[in-house]
Amino acid sequence: MEQAVDKHKQHQFHHHTREFWSSRIALILAMAGNAIGLGNFLRFPVKAAQNGGGAFMIPYFIALVFLGIPLLWVEWAMGRFGGRYRHGTTPGIFYRMWNNRFIKYVGAIGVVMPVIICIYYNYIESWTLSYSFFSLFNKYTGVTTREGMGTFLASYQGRVPSEYFSNIWTAYAFFVLTLAINVYVLRKGVVKGIEVLAKWGLPLLFFFGVILVIRVFTLGTPDPAYPDRNILNGLAYMWNPDFSRLKDSSCWLAAAGQIFFTLSVGFGAIQTYASYLKEKDDVALSGLSACSLNEFAEVILGGSIAIPVAIAFFGLSETQAIAKGGAFDLGFQALPIVFQKLHFGSIFGFLWFFLLFIAGITSSVALSQPAMAFLQDELRMPLKKAANLVGAVLFIGGTMVVFFLRYGFLDELDFWAGTVGLVAFAFIETVLFAWIFGMDKGWHEINLGADINLSRIFYYIIKYVTPLYLLVLLVTWFCQDGIAVLFMKGVPQENVPYLWGARALMAALLITGFVLIKLAWKQHREAGRLP
Ligand code: ALA
Repeated sequence: MEQAVDKHKQHQFHHHTREFWSSRIALILAMAGNAIGLGNFLRFPVKAAQNGGGAFMIPYFIALVFLGIPLLWVEWAMGRFGGRYRHGTTPGIFYRMWNNRFIKYVGAIGVVMPVIICIYYNYIESWTLSYSFFSLFNKYTGVTTREGMGTFLASYQGRVPSEYFSNIWTAYAFFVLTLAINVYVLRKGVVKGIEVLAKWGLPLLFFFGVILVIRVFTLGTPDPAYPDRNILNGLAYMWNPDFSRLKDSSCWLAAAGQIFFTLSVGFGAIQTYASYLKEKDDVALSGLSACSLNEFAEVILGGSIAIPVAIAFFGLSETQAIAKGGAFDLGFQALPIVFQKLHFGSIFGFLWFFLLFIAGITSSVALSQPAMAFLQDELRMPLKKAANLVGAVLFIGGTMVVFFLRYGFLDELDFWAGTVGLVAFAFIETVLFAWIFGMDKGWHEINLGADINLSRIFYYIIKYVTPLYLLVLLVTWFCQDGIAVLFMKGVPQENVPYLWGARALMAALLITGFVLIKLAWKQHREAGRLP
């Protein structure tokens, strides 16, 4: 009997099967879900408003053309290439692209970094779920000032006790619930889990988004006592270009950072999704289609809701103050007040927060999938076991984020992984793709099975412009913010141990990644699976 079990296990180990997307539409929706996230609806409007409104769109579109789209093609092509060898993550993909002993360890970043990002992303996603309920069941009804909503959010996060929440447990319960839903989807696999989520989620998200935009556009002048607080001024503020901001390097950095975050490039997550493509499936047009859906969600929907609404109700100077406070102040403090002033406000509030939740969950499963694919492809772990293990890691890390939020734990992870890490990793993979793997082979991969003819200009952009652009960004960023963050300049003394804790967590995850890669390659070698 035992022998039979052993035989069965061995069989599974050698005959590891991988899933494929069931149709092109499923693939595009899943990739769009990967990209469309909290970044589109919370981060984008605030970044645009802070960095010159319409003028922000100039560095934004330049970054889209010279960084975002080329990187999408590179990552899609790399992922599909890796899938051919049954590798869904960058350790294996890099290894097949460059016969070098160490490169697979560099690829560890493409598995560990999305896990780190997902650790805090899940927590923010859980706020959107709880606020959907709070809207529907009128939990914040009657809290009509920004200070009041600020206290509501702070006490929900366990920063200060208030009449609304006396402790952090509600937030923690919603975090656990959100994580459980994520693990449920992951346990179903690519086709039955991620694909089904995207096929239902994305149309719903667009539907909710369009309803909200229509409601926003028909707001007019909500309070006749303040004639300049109207929706036209809101849109004008969002889009009127302030060209003087273009002289400022921070505006260019913000635009490039937004392109990275919103398209999910440099994360490692796109390669994994693309590894479930068949050998000759198109990547050129599909990549562009997913990108267009993301840009529609970001610029048209994301740009038309939060900021214009805030201006119509709070006026210009207060909205500017809100935008300075960041994305959460806008989404979780200002908008709940606005919704209370509308007929059926609890429904509109629900639509807003649930839209954010859908956007969030289709991205968080994508951030978890590299770790899933690594465990399945490289360590031959069964699907459900892999999902449980990934869930456990996200649970432990996420618990730290929940309880240490007020000490800057989340921001530390976000800076190193979610901001600089993306650009650094994108730089490494572009150089590997264009210069080591070779641009001729790379261009062939991108064009293989392509349903559109790509202009050859992109050959040169990917080879020269994108890596150079990334390098300049990286150096500027490091000098401008990196050094201060590295040495914890201006950080309150009590936060210091927590920030070291965040760094230790990231280091521990990376070292675990190295050890697992070593183990996996030993197993591959013994099984004769290496070239
Ligand atoms: N691309 C995802 C977002 O925009 C991570 O939130």
